[in-house]
Amino acid sequence: METMLASLVPASGTAAAAAAAGGLVAAAALVAGGGRLVGQKDRLNAPPAVPGLPIIGNLHQLKERKPHQTFARWAQVYGPIYTIRTGASSVAVLNSTEVAKEAMVAKFSSISTRKLSNALSVLTCDKKIVATSDYGDFHKMVKRYVMVSMLGASSQKQFRGIRDMVIDNMLSTFHTLVTDDPKAALNFREVFKNELFRLSLIQALGEDMSSVYVEEFGKSISKEEIYQTTVVDLMMCALAVDWRDFFPYLRWIPNRNFETKVSTTEARRTAVIRALINQQKKRIARGEARVSYLDFLVAQNTLTDEQVTTLVWEAVIEAADTTLVTTEWAMYELCKNQEKQERLFEEIQEVCGDETVTEDDLPRLPYLNAVFHETLRRHPPVSLVPPRFVHENTTLAGYDIPAGTELIINLYGCNMNKNDWDEPEEWKPERFLDGRFEQADMFKTMAFGAGRRACAGATQATNIACTAIARFVQDFAWRLKEGDEDKDDTIQLTTNRLYPLHVYLTPRGRK
Ligand code: HEM
Repeated sequence: METMLASLVPASGTAAAAAAAGGLVAAAALVAGGGRLVGQKDRLNAPPAVPGLPIIGNLHQLKERKPHQTFARWAQVYGPIYTIRTGASSVAVLNSTEVAKEAMVAKFSSISTRKLSNALSVLTCDKKIVATSDYGDFHKMVKRYVMVSMLGASSQKQFRGIRDMVIDNMLSTFHTLVTDDPKAALNFREVFKNELFRLSLIQALGEDMSSVYVEEFGKSISKEEIYQTTVVDLMMCALAVDWRDFFPYLRWIPNRNFETKVSTTEARRTAVIRALINQQKKRIARGEARVSYLDFLVAQNTLTDEQVTTLVWEAVIEAADTTLVTTEWAMYELCKNQEKQERLFEEIQEVCGDETVTEDDLPRLPYLNAVFHETLRRHPPVSLVPPRFVHENTTLAGYDIPAGTELIINLYGCNMNKNDWDEPEEWKPERFLDGRFEQADMFKTMAFGAGRRACAGATQATNIACTAIARFVQDFAWRLKEGDEDKDDTIQLTTNRLYPLHVYLTPRGRK
């Protein structure tokens, strides 16, 4: 049994495989457990159930580590809503835009809590971050804090200079690499990741720290090690499976390997974030205020040190990845579809001429906007929305859904649904143009979730990804490294590219 469950742990990934908020919470989609046992026969009007085995339910069918794809396949047989069993838990899986929206928006009041795995409970200090907290007073307060100080439309204006600076840095690194060795394929992810992490540190803490002394480690650690301990290790650990998640009635049996791994990762993360915070608190005590999430949280004086530490960590990890995942997929598709890359370049030329594209130009670049949303549709970074928990009896798509059911919203399945999308497997930005969709329909992909738990960082992600894509295409013609055309495999529960993007860049000769 343990071997089979262990096989649900995603394959080990690279640094950039670490997913941010979405990945973090998506990780819980499979490993959350503990729902009340509800037999199908108890219900008069239950959704179809995918046949499974006694005791383990459907766990053995989820071994190939791409649950979003398995769920989408099952939707072709059982329809857009069906149930599965993961050990003792009853899980409803949703695979169409209509039923997903019904769950996230119309029936939110019955489905507003989260269900966390044992690993995520420890790593988020028992739901002490915005993304995993239950909807309630704490959630409302901290979501307001993060919007007002960092992610809301007006607070984003304060960080405009930082966003411009990191994108400038990416461009100048690309130019240097191409000048140094014009024939070499360059590693896109490495360049983007470093600059995005710089931004996440500045926003969260007020400074891009290149090293920090960590008392518990008895030494200073480098920025690469800070990234490893606060982002990569956490994402890998968040995906760790504790078999007791599926069989909560066996919680009394120790699982020492799992417990040691999770508590060590949590302790190291906390030591590093605390060290970063302490360094900044000295700055704040000297009266050197900066625009940062930490400065804001400290000034509120409403949170404990533990809460501040966990929230600052959340801001660091969330900013550091999903924007990278989306931009990397967009550049991959633009490399593969050269005529679409040219169309985008022409649009930029028409609108901006020789001027460098800026965020202010984004509303006037409809094809760019379509490229971004089509990338989110075809490769939703958070393919499984963080699991919701039905806390009072409700209905979905006309079926009875009893309290105690867990909900998995499969955005990949929704966006691959032939009833919702024409040729869904094709990457076609044009589907969003020519009056076929209103601006609001762009969000039909639901890549940022929907309703009151929708992504807090959507504005930031859109600004960074769209400006970066436009500037990359404005400055260079992009081509894939030979042999990489079909390397579109993914790792983990998010749609991280398994193979980091390697590209040839040809400068377009802009000054
Ligand atoms: C392309 C990039 C991104 C995608 C696709 C994405 C996607 C998502 C999704 C699907 C959710 C869950 C929504 C739900 O449960 O209904 C979420 C939640 C969240 N995201 Fe993002 N995200 C992205 C970038 C970011 C960034 C850059 C940040 C912050 C710097 C961020 C912060 C958050 C937070 C705080 C939540 C929790 C919101 C809540 O529970 O109320 N996200 N995101």
